Amino acid sequence: MILPDKRLAVCADLVTGGFAADIGTDHAYLPSFLVRSGKCERAIASDINPGPLEAARRTLIGEGTADRVELFLADGTKDLPLEGVTDIICAGMGGELISRIILEDERTREMHIIAQPMSRAEHLRKSLFEAGFSIDEERAVRSKGHVYTAARFVYTGRREYDEAAVYTGGLSPLREDDREYVRLMCERMKKAAIGMAAARPDEAAYNEHILALIGEKWKL
Ligand SMILES: C[S@@+](CC[C@H](N)C(=O)[O-])C[C@H]1O[C@@H](n2cnc3c(N)ncnc32)[C@H](O)[C@@H]1O
Repeated sequence: MILPDKRLAVCADLVTGGFAADIGTDHAYLPSFLVRSGKCERAIASDINPGPLEAARRTLIGEGTADRVELFLADGTKDLPLEGVTDIICAGMGGELISRIILEDERTREMHIIAQPMSRAEHLRKSLFEAGFSIDEERAVRSKGHVYTAARFVYTGRREYDEAAVYTGGLSPLREDDREYVRLMCERMKKAAIGMAAARPDEAAYNEHILALIGEKWKL
């Protein structure tokens, strides 16, 4: 059984335990797949907006998974019953929003965090590293003409981190999709450095410094 959306399929792959909570679920394709495939015994699917939650309800009924996926209308994990949850998934949202959702609820320290940011991945990694989370796996994936990244974080309490890891996380120079993700990110950083050179020379120099560190390891 496969999930047609490769971006969500990577998130499903990163799930480790039998009870996942998908925050910002929209159509609930991911939690429904997790229980249908047997990877999870049960799941929570939550969204801040009633419209997506209605779409989620239709998916669960249509796929016969409504008895194993519980729906909640909630902002992040606020007021969600997370007892027994092994994995929190935040996919398809901006890195800043994911970071806020994870860091405002200390219960997330007890779980694996599967994060798939659509933007500001470096902000997400940095803020989670500074709060004591580490990445134990990260993969890039090409899907529908874009390259996305998805990472699994765990709370270790260790707050030191490598500055290049803010940009490349747990991606590997040996994997083709990971190389493409990092190559595109470096292109954006180079353009930004050129654009900032006159008005914000310190930021431009920092970008150049990170690009040099990445270049050394990745040989792109
Ligand atoms: C672009 S969709 C992503 C859906 C799905 N997770 C995916 O990756 O395909 C983002 C969803 O997050 C929901 N959302 C935005 N902010 C949220 C918050 N603070 N708490 C829960 N859900 C939120 C939106 O209503 C929307 O349904």
